[in-house]
Amino acid sequence: PRTIYLTRHGESDFNMDGKIGGDSDLTERGQQYAQALAKYVEEQNVPHMRVWTSHMKRTIQTGASIEGTQERWKALNEIDAGVCEEMTYQDIEKKFPQEFALRDQNKFRYRYPGGESYEDLVARLEPVIMELERQGNIMVISHQAVIRCLLAYFLDKDYDELPCLRVSLHTLYKLTPLAYGCVVEEIDFPF
Ligand code: F6P
Repeated sequence: PRTIYLTRHGESDFNMDGKIGGDSDLTERGQQYAQALAKYVEEQNVPHMRVWTSHMKRTIQTGASIEGTQERWKALNEIDAGVCEEMTYQDIEKKFPQEFALRDQNKFRYRYPGGESYEDLVARLEPVIMELERQGNIMVISHQAVIRCLLAYFLDKDYDELPCLRVSLHTLYKLTPLAYGCVVEEIDFPF
């Protein structure tokens, strides 16, 4: 059976600052994760691995040392938070209290002004998922909201559950598709 690996990028400068979106670099810990991930893949001896990242620096840096064919997908970029890009959640609550409350009411359907909703994201990811279904061994390195959508698809989660799925940094999700459904294994890296 083939394997689909899903992970968020390693810790970024914006993760440290609590800011959303943007295009920051990995921190030192984030780089450690990138190295550990490459080592893990090497040890697993996965044949013909494809490494898919978004167009953001933090995912490209996370996958750079992994042996395999590298591909970039704009469709794997993080949810576009529009006017709220590069802000902390506290900034958003203070500057756009109404938006903050609306998002809380319906996180799946809420669309950031000038940006996207999780619903938009699910539509944007359709071609990625179609291609994922046809491929062999793949490592997808993307972002929190995107990984939630992909996990929800493979694990058959509802749309109301999707935006709240816990997807931690420095955790690798190993999916083995079976005839019916998918087996998921969570591999936590110790930093
Ligand atoms: O904070 C990291 C991040 O990837 C942001 O770029 C993004 O807006 C957010 O997570 C998505 O998570 P949530 O939908 O819970 O705000």
